[in-house]
Amino acid sequence: MENILEVKDLHVSFHTYGGEVKAIRGINFEVKKGETVAIVGESGCGKSVTAQSIMQLIPSPPVDYKQGHIMFNGQDLLKKSEKEMEKIRGNDIGMIFQDPMTSLNPTMKVGQQIAESLIKHQGLSRAEAHERALQALKLVGIPQPDKRVNQYPHEFSGGMRQRAMIAVALACRPKLLIADEPTTALDVTIQAQILDLMKELQMQTGTSIILITHDLGVVAEMCDRVVVMYAGEIVETGTIDDIFYHPQHPYTKGLLNSVPRLDMNKNEPLKPIVGTPPDLIAPPVGCPFFARCEYAMEICRGHKPELEEVGRGQYSACWLNHPMAKMAKAK
Ligand SMILES: Nc1ncnc2c1ncn2[C@@H]1O[C@H](COP(=O)(O)OP(=O)(O)OP(=O)(O)O)[C@@H](O)[C@H]1O
Ligand code: SF4
Ligand SMILES: [Mg+2]
Repeated sequence: MENILEVKDLHVSFHTYGGEVKAIRGINFEVKKGETVAIVGESGCGKSVTAQSIMQLIPSPPVDYKQGHIMFNGQDLLKKSEKEMEKIRGNDIGMIFQDPMTSLNPTMKVGQQIAESLIKHQGLSRAEAHERALQALKLVGIPQPDKRVNQYPHEFSGGMRQRAMIAVALACRPKLLIADEPTTALDVTIQAQILDLMKELQMQTGTSIILITHDLGVVAEMCDRVVVMYAGEIVETGTIDDIFYHPQHPYTKGLLNSVPRLDMNKNEPLKPIVGTPPDLIAPPVGCPFFARCEYAMEICRGHKPELEEVGRGQYSACWLNHPMAKMAKAK
């Protein structure tokens, strides 16, 4: 299957008074057409910065795209001007966030927001755009769409607002939808409805999805592949089965052990990963997980492990993959 997105050797930093925060440190991943890829990892590991870099949403400065390429449909988004990005955002790439109020315009009726995007990006007439906006609200399951189309975002409930944001994001049928914690703020029933809706819309439109979430249950249900990030790097990537049934990286194993799972004995205690991620102003030279890893060896301290294929299409960045690892001494 063809790739819609290829992130290549991406480095992103923030210049702050405290120094250069090296938020993304050389990540590589791709998203195929029609596929759903999860990005997981603890708070601060760089999930949102990755998403916002693809959309070029953070102004530069403070952000500095130091190195790399973000190839979307064969074109490098890092080489686009702000004007060119405006044409891509909301048209070719849609984005939904945890808080719909950050992307919905509070001063504009919901229907009008969808219509404006269709007029701007697809050159529809006002009447056509209004009709499509109505359809979009219907499609995302908003009751009484002909009334809702003329209401403002604050007149919608949380779940309905999230649906409206999805309607805005999908109105132009983007080739890629980036969803950053799209359901975290919603209660469980509505969360399930929104996720079902995203899946259904994906089946209808064939869009690719990048889903960022802390909820590994949602990942298992929604996604084809998983990218595991730690301290601005990708430490493991593979299919859902690879990651959930044959995790190779100690950090991935730690993540899985820190959340409840169906196949777990009720009396089995959850094991949070002890310690905190490294400082990104002065990240460690060796393996970023060294200080917290129960398998760490002497080599891990001063030498960074590269991502290596550990199974078909599964990659892990850990010295344990090395054939000589069994002979190494623990730290
Ligand atoms: N504007 C900024 N200035 C300085 N540092 C920043 C800025 N935005 C993000 N960072 C840093 O970049 C790193 C990655 O942040 P990011 O928001 O991508 O984390 P995340 O994985 O999305 O976390 P969460 O799960 O909490 O949403 C963090 O160390 C964060 O402190
Ligand atoms: S490289 Fe070493 S410290 Fe890093 S995860 Fe593997 S064993 Fe642990
Ligand atoms: Mg985030």
